[in-house]
Amino acid sequence: MNRQHLFKWGLLFLFVMAGCQHPGDEEPPKLFAHRGASDQFNESTLTAYKIAADEGVDALEIDLRMTADGELVVMHDETIDRTTNGSGPVDAYTFDELAAYPTVGGGGRIEKIPMLRDLFDTFGETEHYYIETRLINGKAVMERPLIQLLNEYSLIEKKKIIIQSFSEKSLHEVNKLAPGVPLTRLFGRGKGTIMQASLPIYDHIGIESTDATPQRVMMLHYLGKDIHVFFNDPKTEKAEQKRVKKLGVEGYFTNDILYAKKLLH
Ligand code: G3P
Ligand code: CA
Repeated sequence: MNRQHLFKWGLLFLFVMAGCQHPGDEEPPKLFAHRGASDQFNESTLTAYKIAADEGVDALEIDLRMTADGELVVMHDETIDRTTNGSGPVDAYTFDELAAYPTVGGGGRIEKIPMLRDLFDTFGETEHYYIETRLINGKAVMERPLIQLLNEYSLIEKKKIIIQSFSEKSLHEVNKLAPGVPLTRLFGRGKGTIMQASLPIYDHIGIESTDATPQRVMMLHYLGKDIHVFFNDPKTEKAEQKRVKKLGVEGYFTNDILYAKKLLH
């Protein structure tokens, strides 16, 4: 057998071993409430997270933004246009100014944008928090106040936190400030190389469901990474949740908690 053949068979062996041995295969995926119970109430609000907690999930998924006065608030978009009755970038407003723009969505009731602190005051140590950081103008500036806040509530030492980000720079900063906090590197659709995913500081890799192919799942498992899948398209989410179920991934960011529970448990 020449070298090329040996390499090919070696790779195949590793794929098969990875597929056979990964411990996550035996357990159903963990469920993370994507922006709270976002199918039932205005996303990223206290009420959406209360519904999610009542339905029972492994963690509350939370997107972070920072206001002009440095408050960490729970919001996905860079602007408040889509999810409130106002407009403009989140960081153009102080937290008090944001109160003038209540959230909108499927809830049919006025509710303001919450501070991250509001969630901790509401749920304390009864929930796990899966927090997404992002750069602000290319800089890792939300990480330090975030870690300070987590320490204030003792959430890191109580192992209640996972931090996720599409930004390698942000995750490095978190790792520097709080080594040992579990980290998830997110990759958008079609993005992310094996080299990028293999960084030892990442415990989990978050990929969009259409990227969850048997080959990719095997390779990431071979690297020793758990895989958490998010679902970008509401029209295909249920079908995708069913398809991905067969692949043995470790987590779903679900927009429909009860559906995912019925499917997986
Ligand atoms: O955090 C997982 C998933 O939420 C990533 O996508 O855009 O919904 O934050 P996005
Ligand atoms: Ca997110």
